[in-house]
Amino acid sequence: MMQVNARKVSESQTIITELMIPAYANFGGKIHGGILLSLMDKVAYACASKHAGTYCVTVTVDRVEFLEPVEVGELVSLKASVNYVGRSSMIIGIRVESQNVRTGIVKHTNSSFFTMVAKGDDDKPVAVPALILETGEDIKRFIEGMRLKSIRDRVRAEMLDTRSVPDVRNAREILKNERCIINHSEV
Ligand SMILES: CC(C)(COP(=O)(O)OP(=O)(O)OC[C@H]1O[C@@H](n2cnc3c(N)ncnc32)[C@H](O)[C@@H]1OP(=O)(O)O)[C@@H](O)C(=O)NCCC(=O)NCCS
Repeated sequence: MMQVNARKVSESQTIITELMIPAYANFGGKIHGGILLSLMDKVAYACASKHAGTYCVTVTVDRVEFLEPVEVGELVSLKASVNYVGRSSMIIGIRVESQNVRTGIVKHTNSSFFTMVAKGDDDKPVAVPALILETGEDIKRFIEGMRLKSIRDRVRAEMLDTRSVPDVRNAREILKNERCIINHSEV
């Protein structure tokens, strides 16, 4: 059933292109990962707020892997799309590419998923429009988003569990194959 309060994926798709200037580089002459993360957060915000029609906040960032270094002078393009919507949350898929303008070579430097939540004027989460899926790719990404959400919920529960180590008395056995030296008299 078509919901009135629904928006197409294409209505909020966003691309930001930015020139990598020397001030963005680290001592090795490559672009800082933090610069790219900041640009990813910006494009995720732009895309999410266009879909939601409200102010949004970043809640989680999933799987950031830097596959290729980015050089000074390259043009970095960040493409963002709403992949999945819950009630107030949205999973934004981001693809980052870097182009050397002289050679024309385009590298896929990384991809990631940002979860953004729409906020109302009272700063509380508000419902976002449903997503109208018009292409096979839209449908594939929505299903991937649904799976990502359930995997993330499971991983979060397991990560909380890793914090509940009862005591460290058998640490020598647990850590026997790890690269650490226990220098503690009670263990
Ligand atoms: C994220 C935040 C809005 C959740 O608020 P809350 O009162 O717990 O609200 P809810 O429990 O109703 O959750 C709202 C949505 O966020 C999702 N959510 C909450 N915590 C989450 C997490 N850790 N990871 C992914 N999604 C999460 C919920 O699943 C829910 O999604 P849905 O509405 O689509 O079902 C709130 O914690 C917040 O404002 N955090 C600060 C965000 C911020 O300032 N970001 C900038 C970074 S400096």
